Parts: sequence; C-alpha cells; structure tokens
Amino acid sequence: MAVAAIDHQRRVERLPEPAELAVELERVSVRFTTDRGTITALEGIDLTVPKGGFLTLLGPSGCGKSTLLRVVADIIQPTSGSARVFGGRPAEARSRRDIGFVFQDAALLPWRTVIDNVTLPLEVGGGAPAGRGRDPHELLDLVGLAGWENAFPHELSGGMRQRVSIARALVSGPRLLFMDEPFGALDEITRDRLNEELLAVWERTGTTILFVTHSIYEAAFLGQEVLLLAARPGRMRERVPVDLPMPRKIAMRETPEFVALVSHLRRVLETC
Ligand SMILES: Nc1ncnc2c1ncn2[C@@H]1O[C@H](COP(=O)(O)OP(=O)(O)OP(=O)(O)O)[C@@H](O)[C@H]1O
Ligand SMILES: [Mg+2]
Repeated sequence: MAVAAIDHQRRVERLPEPAELAVELERVSVRFTTDRGTITALEGIDLTVPKGGFLTLLGPSGCGKSTLLRVVADIIQPTSGSARVFGGRPAEARSRRDIGFVFQDAALLPWRTVIDNVTLPLEVGGGAPAGRGRDPHELLDLVGLAGWENAFPHELSGGMRQRVSIARALVSGPRLLFMDEPFGALDEITRDRLNEELLAVWERTGTTILFVTHSIYEAAFLGQEVLLLAARPGRMRERVPVDLPMPRKIAMRETPEFVALVSHLRRVLETC
C-alpha cells in the first residue's frame, strides 16, 4: 500500500533514540520443547515500541502474540536474542512494577467490592512504587464507573468487569500495559465503546500499550502501529503505521482511509 510505504520511509529517516523506547526486541526467538517435539513460537523478532506508543498485535492463533508479551514481561526467557524494557532487562522492569496486565477474563475477586478489587495490587507485593500509585476513585471515574465503588462483581456486566480490570491494572501506575484480547468476549457495541474509552485513558495517562486482538477493526482503530505476525514459526510479517488523527471516534471507521487500512491488513493477514 502506497501510504504504508511512505510512512515506512519516514520511519527509516528518523529512528528513535534508545532513551525514547519502551520496548526493544533484537532477533528474539522462543522455542518450546514438548513431548510432541520442538515448537518455534517466535523466530527472529526485531521490534521497537516508543515510550507512550500504542502497538496492536494481530495474527492467527498460535503465531506467538502471547509469547511475545511474556518475553517482554519476563515471564519466559527468549531461547536466543535479547529483550530490553525502558533500556534495561525485563526482570528489572518487572521488579520496578513497570508492567501491568489485562486479560480476556477480568478475573475479579467475587467477594471484594469494585473499589477493593481495584486497590488489590496496592495491598500485595509491596504496593505501588513511590510516587507512582494512582487514585483508585479517579481511575474508576476515568473508566466510566464512578458510583459503582461498592458494587460486587456479580452485579456488573462483562464490559463493566473489564473496566474494573483496566482500573486495577493502572492503579500501581505501570509505565507499560499489556492487554491480551481484553475485549474478545464482549458484544460489539460494548467493545466499540471500550475502544474509545481506552484511547482516552491512554492519552490521559501516557502509558505505553501493547494490545493483542483478533479483530482487524480493533487493531486498526486503536494502534499507532499494527504488528502483523505469521504462524509456524511465529515471525514478523509486516509493521503497518496508522496515520489516523486523534482523538479517534468509532464513526471514523467509515472513512475511506480506515476502510483502505482494514483491507490492507486483511490482505496481509490472509497470507499469515
Ligand atoms: N508453555 C508452552 N509450552 C509449549 N508450547 C507453548 C507454550 N506456550 C506457547 N506454546 C506454543 O507456542 C505457539 C505460540 O503460542 P501463543 O500462545 O504465543 O500464540 P498466540 O498467538 O497468543 O495464539 P492465540 O491467538 O490462540 O492466543 C503455539 O504453537 C503454542 O502451542
Ligand atoms: Mg494468545
């Protein structure tokens, strides 16, 4: 696509300085050895994500999206290659509590109220790093749940539970937020609304976000850049910059630019 080609050129002209990077992967490969043989989950991944960036990851099931997040989060070690987070080792970022997670299932504690679920990370593991904790009430306001502080999870819809889990992930002030198909189980209207809200939260907090999705629309709408991965072995297929203006609104998905972007992503995805 011509647009992508021009943007690629621009990026080549001005590579970000290491100090501006949240994530750097250099030739990262991950292999798992199981009873059924060796699986190459990721092969030779080179990737940079600028501080404050929003990267969406798109690719078929098994292409290594979750594995890539686990490498950056120091949950698994690459078999070869190196990963850096804010210029240091992923383990350092983890011990500084730089990283927050939101998964497909909100996994709230049913016996705790909304506010007590949000403050949970402040009670375990030594609380928020000095000066980084955020006001849980403000966060609930930010995710549209002001007034629900004392409700219990069973009183909430799926979308509301996911909002709680986003507030919970942000309460200790992580600089990097991983979201692994967080809205995959929600209906389309709720998902659209949460997409808009997430972008507002991202703009307000300056958090760097890595967001995994199976939805081409979601990947295009949210990302400043979309990373397409191919499967078996999991490898980089294409990085597509997204030049849609901010703030983005769902109605933007009907513009010719958005439609062209989606059809480009779809064509590439068909070859992954
Ligand atoms: N701990 C593990 N042990 C063995 N194999 C694993 C392990 N974790 C992942 N894999 C394999 O690595 C490959 C990539 O898995 P991964 O979970 O990263 O894919 P994914 O892109 O997140 O898929 P999905 O879209 O279905 O969530 C798969 O073939 C999977 O079976
Ligand atoms: Mg996954």
